[in-house]
Amino acid sequence: MYLFFHYYVLFTLIHVLLFSPSSLSLPPPSATTSLLQFLHSLPKQSQNQLPWNHSISSSPCQWPGVSCHNISNNTSFQVIKALNLSGYGLTGVLNNSISYICQNTHLSFLDLSGNNFTGNVPKQLGNCGQLSTVYLSNNGFQGQIPPELFKSKWLSNLDLGFNSLSGYVPPEVSLCHNLEYLGLYNNHLSGEVPSEIFIYQS
Ligand SMILES: *[C@@H]1O[C@H](CO)[C@@H](O)[C@H](O)[C@H]1NC(C)=O
Ligand SMILES: *[C@@H]1O[C@H](CO)[C@@H](O)[C@H](O)[C@H]1NC(C)=O
Ligand SMILES: *[C@@H]1O[C@H](CO)[C@@H](O)[C@H](O)[C@H]1NC(C)=O
Ligand SMILES: *[C@@H]1O[C@H](CO)[C@@H](O)[C@H](O)[C@H]1NC(C)=O
Ligand SMILES: *[C@@H]1O[C@H](CO)[C@@H](O)[C@H](O)[C@H]1NC(C)=O
Ligand SMILES: *[C@@H]1O[C@H](CO)[C@@H](O)[C@H](O)[C@H]1NC(C)=O
Ligand SMILES: *[C@@H]1O[C@H](CO)[C@@H](O)[C@H](O)[C@H]1NC(C)=O
Repeated sequence: MYLFFHYYVLFTLIHVLLFSPSSLSLPPPSATTSLLQFLHSLPKQSQNQLPWNHSISSSPCQWPGVSCHNISNNTSFQVIKALNLSGYGLTGVLNNSISYICQNTHLSFLDLSGNNFTGNVPKQLGNCGQLSTVYLSNNGFQGQIPPELFKSKWLSNLDLGFNSLSGYVPPEVSLCHNLEYLGLYNNHLSGEVPSEIFIYQS
C-alpha cells in the first residue's frame, strides 16, 4: 500500500510535468509581461514608437526587435535571447525601465543604440540576464560610467560611444575578463584608460 502510494504520487508528478498546459506555453507569460512592463514604463510618445502588439495573446517572439531561442529543440521552451530596439526614437530615463528587461534571465544581446535615452547608464546592466553585448551608443546618457558594469562575467562588447558621459573610466574595467570591445568615442571622458583591452576613444 505504502509502495503503491509512492508510485501513485510519482506517476501523478510525472503526468503533471509532462502534460500540464503551463509547460506548453511559449514563451513563458512572464517574458511577455516583462516586455509590456518595459513598454509602459517609457514616456507615452515612446510607447507608440515601439510597434509591439499590446495584446498578451500574441507571442513576443514575433514582435519587432525581439529574438527568442529554443532552450532545447522543442518549441515548448523558448526564452528571449536578444533585444534590438535600435533607432526607434525612444526617450526617457533608462534607469527607470531596465529592471523589466533584466527579468529575462537568458538575455545575452541588448541594442538600444540610436535612441534618445537620458540619465545615467544603469548600473544594473552589470547584473542583467547573461548580457554579453550591450550597445548604448548614440543616446543622451550622462554622468559617470558605473563601475558595476564591469563586474559582469558575461560582458564582452560594450558600446557607450556618442553620449555625454563624463569622469574617468573605472579601473574595474581591467577586471572584466571577457571584455573584448569597449566603445567610448565621442564622450567627455577624462584621464587614462587601462590599455589591456581593445578600447576606442577619441
Ligand atoms: C495583435 O494581437 C491580436 C490578438 O492576438 C491579433 O488579433 C492581432 O492581429 C495582432 N496584431 C498584430 C499587428 O500583430
Ligand atoms: C525552435 O524549434 C522549432 C521546432 O524545432 C523550429 O521550427 C524553430 O525554428 C526554432 N526556433 C528557433 C529560434 O531556433
Ligand atoms: C531533437 O533532438 C533529437 C536528439 O538530439 C533529434 O533526434 C531530433 O531529430 C531533434 N528534433 C528536431 C525537430 O530538431
Ligand atoms: C516538447 O516537450 C513537451 C513537454 O515535454 C512534449 O509534450 C512535446 O511533445 C514536445 N514536443 C516535441 C515537438 O518534441
Ligand atoms: C538592429 O536592428 C536594426 C534595424 O532595426 C539593424 O539595422 C541593425 O543592424 C540591428 N543590429 C544588430 C546588431 O543586429
Ligand atoms: C533626440 O532628441 C533631439 C532633441 O530633442 C532631436 O533633435 C532628435 O531628433 C532626437 N533623436 C532621435 C533619434 O529621436
Ligand atoms: C536608478 O534606479 C535605482 C532603482 O530604482 C535607484 O536605486 C538609483 O538611485 C537610480 N539611480 C539613478 C542615478 O537615478
